[in-house]
Amino acid sequence: MRPHVLASCAVSLDGFLDDATPQRRILSGPADLDRVDEERAKVDAILVGAGTVRADDPRLLVRAPERRAARTARGLPESPLRVVLTTRALPDGARIRSGPAETITLAGTPGEVLDELGCRGVVRLMVEGGASVLREFLSAGAVDELQLVLAPQLVGEGPRFTGGGRAPHLVGTRTIGEDVLLRYRFGDADDRHLAEACVLAENCPPSATAFSVGCVVVADDGTVLGSGWSRRDHPLDHAEEGVLRALGNDPRLRRATLYSSLEPCGARASRPDPCAALIARAGIPRVVHAWREPPEFVAAPSGTEQLEAAGTEVRHVPRWEPLARMCAARR
Ligand SMILES: NC(=O)c1ccc[n+]([C@@H]2O[C@H](COP(=O)([O-])OP(=O)(O)OC[C@H]3O[C@@H](n4cnc5c(N)ncnc54)[C@H](OP(=O)(O)O)[C@@H]3O)[C@@H](O)[C@H]2O)c1
Ligand SMILES: [Zn+2]
Repeated sequence: MRPHVLASCAVSLDGFLDDATPQRRILSGPADLDRVDEERAKVDAILVGAGTVRADDPRLLVRAPERRAARTARGLPESPLRVVLTTRALPDGARIRSGPAETITLAGTPGEVLDELGCRGVVRLMVEGGASVLREFLSAGAVDELQLVLAPQLVGEGPRFTGGGRAPHLVGTRTIGEDVLLRYRFGDADDRHLAEACVLAENCPPSATAFSVGCVVVADDGTVLGSGWSRRDHPLDHAEEGVLRALGNDPRLRRATLYSSLEPCGARASRPDPCAALIARAGIPRVVHAWREPPEFVAAPSGTEQLEAAGTEVRHVPRWEPLARMCAARR
């Protein structure tokens, strides 16, 4: 299975990734660099082109000791695998060749590279540049999420951020100090909203017994009506339950799609109604999920069977199952 691809970069207001001098120009501020470190800690592999290795000599490690410790506690290496795209050998003494993380080099089209990394068990990949690699991955339609940080600098000349291919869809914006983070997703609506539901599961408060699930509800015109995750508002809440409670009797639910990282449950011990019943009662005509409830948790009839009996269409998208599982296991 191909990994989920997050492309991450900082650009100046005039669209440059760096200036034209041999020194690397740091564009975004310390708070954003720390945010990037947090994103690194979530992935299995970080990829850059050899041009970035030659120009910037990055280490591409997780910096914060607490993030490294959290990875180790989950049985992961303290920093993700480092992948350099190149047709040549890496420069002697490049910092990426040493340090507490494995480094590999690969060559090929983005599709070939993603297949190879998928075979190596990479579920989440972060592509950090540079200019040609970002252009190549965007143009090939190989990027699922783009995190673009706009930094208040005017650079004038240097390598530019360019792309091509599929249309980006804005997911959200955030101000980080003087920088602005713009988050986009690519692909069809089901792919985008389901991948987003999967990564929302990372926000779930920890639980030894309950699943960690993310949920997004989208109106028929594409408006995101609500989103959430398990145990956000109450320690017993399932993700769907919290989101539906907040939406009340919104009439748009009757033409909406509910995206959930996990198949909605068909039985509850701690609450009178399983999520399948709540979804059917809200009149939601369509459910898309990434991960079938493991059989030991499924009462007969399953959530899917109950939804279908109520006339709700249920679609399972196995492509995002590894992402759903990985985000659920983060806590
Ligand atoms: N602002 C940011 O967030 C950010 C992030 C990263 C980098 N940057 C900047 O970006 C600039 C570097 O960009 P760049 O375009 O020069 O370099 P790049 O995109 O990092 O790397 C290009 C090189 O990668 C290799 N490559 C690319 N596609 C390949 C493929 N499919 N198979 C095998 N090898 C492949 C080739 O290396 P070989 O020639 O060795 O085969 C190619 O020369 C630097 O100035 C850096 O500071 C900015
Ligand atoms: Zn449920």
